[in-house]
Amino acid sequence: MRIKFVDLAAQNLEIRERVDAEMTELHQNTAYIGGPHVKAFEEEFAKFLGARRAIGVSSGTDALRIAMIAAGIGAGDEVITTPLTFIASAAAIFQTGARPVFVDVDPDTGNLSPSKLRSYLSEGHWSAPNGPRAILPVHLYGMPAPMSEINEIAQEFGLKVIEDACQAHGASIKTGQGRAMAGTMGLAGCFSFYPGKNLGAWGDAGAVVTNDDELADRIALLRDHGRLSHYAHEEFGYNARIDAMQAVVLRAKLELLGEWNLRRRKIAEAYRNLLAKFDVTLPVEPDGIESVYHLFVIRSDRRDAIREELLINDIECGIHYPVPLHLQPACRSLGYRHGDFPVSEHIADTVLSLPMHPHLTSRQVVRVATAVRTALQPNVDLAAGAAKGDKDSFAERLRA
Ligand SMILES: Cc1ncc(COP(=O)(O)O)c(C=O)c1O
Repeated sequence: MRIKFVDLAAQNLEIRERVDAEMTELHQNTAYIGGPHVKAFEEEFAKFLGARRAIGVSSGTDALRIAMIAAGIGAGDEVITTPLTFIASAAAIFQTGARPVFVDVDPDTGNLSPSKLRSYLSEGHWSAPNGPRAILPVHLYGMPAPMSEINEIAQEFGLKVIEDACQAHGASIKTGQGRAMAGTMGLAGCFSFYPGKNLGAWGDAGAVVTNDDELADRIALLRDHGRLSHYAHEEFGYNARIDAMQAVVLRAKLELLGEWNLRRRKIAEAYRNLLAKFDVTLPVEPDGIESVYHLFVIRSDRRDAIREELLINDIECGIHYPVPLHLQPACRSLGYRHGDFPVSEHIADTVLSLPMHPHLTSRQVVRVATAVRTALQPNVDLAAGAAKGDKDSFAERLRA
C-alpha cells in the first residue's frame, strides 16, 4: 500500500459530520463572503495563537503581501529574507514594490541566521534607495526561527518584523512568560491554509495575525477593496478575502490542530529513534523551540539513493527546496549568483522530506525508516516485525 506524503482524506473523515451540517446551513443562508463563520474563525484562530487579532485573507501569499503593504513597505525599500523557502516569501516582497534581499541560513536549522543578518546590516551596502525596512523570517518546516535574536537585531537597526508562519501553525518558543506562538512575535504573522498545511482549507486561504489594532484595521480594509461600507472605499485595496466555506472547514480543523500537531511531534520522535544510528542528519530542535513538523526533513549526501529506495517501496517523499530562491529564474533581476549563499545551496542539494501527517501509523513510520536505512546500508537487518511484514508484502508485489 502506498504511503502518502500527506493524507487529507483521513483529516476529512474526522471533520465530516460537523462540516456537512454547517455547509448545509451555509447553502441555505448563502452568506458565502464574510458572515458569521469568517468572524468566528478569525476570533478562534487569534485565541488559539494568543494574538489580539486575526484577519482572514485569500492565501498565505496575500497575507504576506497585504501585511507588508499595511506596514508601509513599498517601492525603494529592501526586505530581508532567507533564500531557503517557498517562492511566495520573496514574491510577496516583490509585489509590494520592495526588493527582496537574501541572507544565508543557519546550517543546523535552515532558518535565517542572526549572525549573518547582523553582518549584512552592519556592512551597510544597500541595493534599494531606502535600504532595509523589514525582516521577513520564515519558520521553515514548522520550526520557529530564532525570534528573540531577530527581534533584537530589528530593534537595533529600526526594522519591522513580519513573520512568514505559513508552515508553523501552533509552533512555539519558550519565553520568560511561558510560550509564544510562531506568528505572534513580530509586528504581524502570516499564515497559509493551503490544503497540505498543518491547518489546511479545502482550497486557498490565509490569515494575518497581529497585536496592533491599527495595523489589523488597515489589513481588513486592504483585503476587501479598501471598503469602509458597501460602496464607501477609503483607498484602493484588493480582493483578497477568505470565503465562508473555507472558514467552516478551518473552524472544524482548528479544534483538532493541537492534537494533530502532537501526533506529528510523536511521529518525528519515532523517526528520530529509528534513524538515530544511521548516517543521516536529522532535524535539530534548539532548546526551548517546539516545532510542529509541517515537514520532517532529513539530510544526506546520498539523498537521491534514499529517494529512489522510498519510491521503489511506494513511499511518497518531497524535496523542500531543490533550488534556493536566489538561483530561481524569477529572481534573476536581483543579480545573485551560485555560491552567494553556500549553506542554503548545500541544504538544497541534500534535503529530503519524509511522509509526515497526523494519520501516519507506527507501522508506516517503520516502513519509511526501513527504506531509508536500506538505502544507506543495503544489508540492514530488518528484524522489526512490522518492517518485516511490510518488506514481505513488498516482495510479494514485486513477484506479482
Ligand atoms: C513558507 C511559505 N510562505 C508562503 C507560502 C504561500 O502560501 P499560499 O500558497 O497560501 O499563498 C507558503 C505556502 O506554500 C509557504 O510554505
